Amino acid sequence: MDVGNFHLILDSIDEGIQVVDRNGVTVFYNRVAANLDNLKPEEVLGKHVLEVFPSLCRETSTLLQVLKTGQPVLNREQTFMNYKGDTITTINSTLPIVVDNKVIGAVEVSRDITLIQEMARRIVDLQTELFAKKEGRRDIGSDRAHYTFKDIVGESESILELKRKAARAAGSASAVLVQGETGTGKELFVQAIHNAGTRRTGPFIAQNCAALPEGLLEGILFGTTKGGFTGACDRPGLFELADSGTIFLDEIDSMPSGLQGKLLRVLSEKRLRRVGDTKERVVNVRVIAAMTRPPEHAVAAGLLREDLYYRLNVICLRIPPLSERREDIPLLIDHFISKFNRQLMMNVKGVSDEVRKLFLSYDWPGNVRELEHAIEGAMHMLDGDMILLEHLPEHIRKPRLPEKDSHLPFDDIIQDEELGSDFRETVRDLENTLIRRAYAKAGGNVSKTARILGIPRQTLQYRLRRLGIQEENPR
Ligand SMILES: Nc1ncnc2c1ncn2[C@@H]1O[C@H](COP(=O)(O)OP(=O)(O)OP(=O)(O)O)[C@@H](O)[C@H]1O
Ligand SMILES: [Mg+2]
Repeated sequence: MDVGNFHLILDSIDEGIQVVDRNGVTVFYNRVAANLDNLKPEEVLGKHVLEVFPSLCRETSTLLQVLKTGQPVLNREQTFMNYKGDTITTINSTLPIVVDNKVIGAVEVSRDITLIQEMARRIVDLQTELFAKKEGRRDIGSDRAHYTFKDIVGESESILELKRKAARAAGSASAVLVQGETGTGKELFVQAIHNAGTRRTGPFIAQNCAALPEGLLEGILFGTTKGGFTGACDRPGLFELADSGTIFLDEIDSMPSGLQGKLLRVLSEKRLRRVGDTKERVVNVRVIAAMTRPPEHAVAAGLLREDLYYRLNVICLRIPPLSERREDIPLLIDHFISKFNRQLMMNVKGVSDEVRKLFLSYDWPGNVRELEHAIEGAMHMLDGDMILLEHLPEHIRKPRLPEKDSHLPFDDIIQDEELGSDFRETVRDLENTLIRRAYAKAGGNVSKTARILGIPRQTLQYRLRRLGIQEENPR
């Protein structure tokens, strides 16, 4: 390959590249670098660095420093204003070019992160604005945690016991861990605990830990200081905003492990440090965390740090799935019919005997939320004043049963003893195994893995995060 082709390649990549010779004169400068600096390559080529960038000096120019020391400077963040007046932030790595033990030049590779940084800053802005608004509402007397123990319907022994335990928890200052499948009422319990304790006059702030990358989530939770990655602003994080109240960390097992460690420190020391800050601040916040997986499984799978688990587990509420407390189903049916009668200005009396029987035998994988939606959906379809079978969605009316005698794929490998173990866990373990295999086969390439499995990339990314696998090869 001749040098001309090489230049073409370097001109077509996304990074800016500048190469200087041993005297600091630019010998290569690609188009991206030129765009970043808002200069033309011919204004830079053949000239000394300090001649082209008068704002730099021998000490501040990384290229000249690397020429002098022969040591690379890696991943340095740099914010500067180009000649157009745009503020640009780049991540630069500068490396010496060494031949026969002599530094004969240096190369600088720059990646423009202005957009990413701007997006991160806006997200933090929106969060702050949102909570400022909520603060405003509180000033005129309304609460942000709406639910109380009265809203939790159910008279099964397990729900009554949970309510007693939660009420005791409300009076204490310890952290609480709430575990339950999707739709079992975790948020309801969390809000009720906040509203039953002395912190009810303080803020209640919820944050889902699954949705955001580590750096951003850290800034959102603990705040940032001028110059930190999330922007050049001093901002309080949610922990500071929730002072004297409660912070609810949902899907805690999706929080990256490094951040779990930082959270543990805040929990034990009741102090935090904003990202990029040296000062410690005292915070007075109660932490309630929630997750759908059983915590021991999350610990075993490496998703929840063991030390954090012990700290959170001081008070642990496990909400059983609806199928394990069927005696609550009739009460919930009545509760939701009254709720939607009020909302939809209707006068539905109840459900037919067949519907009641079906509801009592159905599995409810989506738990109380699924029951609530089934009733709401039926009431939108109704003419008369009773919910009948025909008003229900097909998957509830006709749950699919395996055909008799048909041979199913895993029949041979599943032992009868395994039938007693947790059904959903077993299915999830199988799913995880398949994902790990495909991921290894695709050499850590996420798009390829998604194609092998025939699932959308985003679904896969979520599952990989759940498995604690970092994306190695995003393209
Ligand atoms: N015991 C209950 N009594 C009345 N309503 C309930 C009860 N449990 C759950 N619900 C209702 O079911 C819906 C789901 O509850 P919630 O959001 O608390 O579930 P969750 O466990 O947080 O679910 P997810 O894991 O999906 O976030 C809500 O509309 C809630 O009001
Ligand atoms: Mg929830």
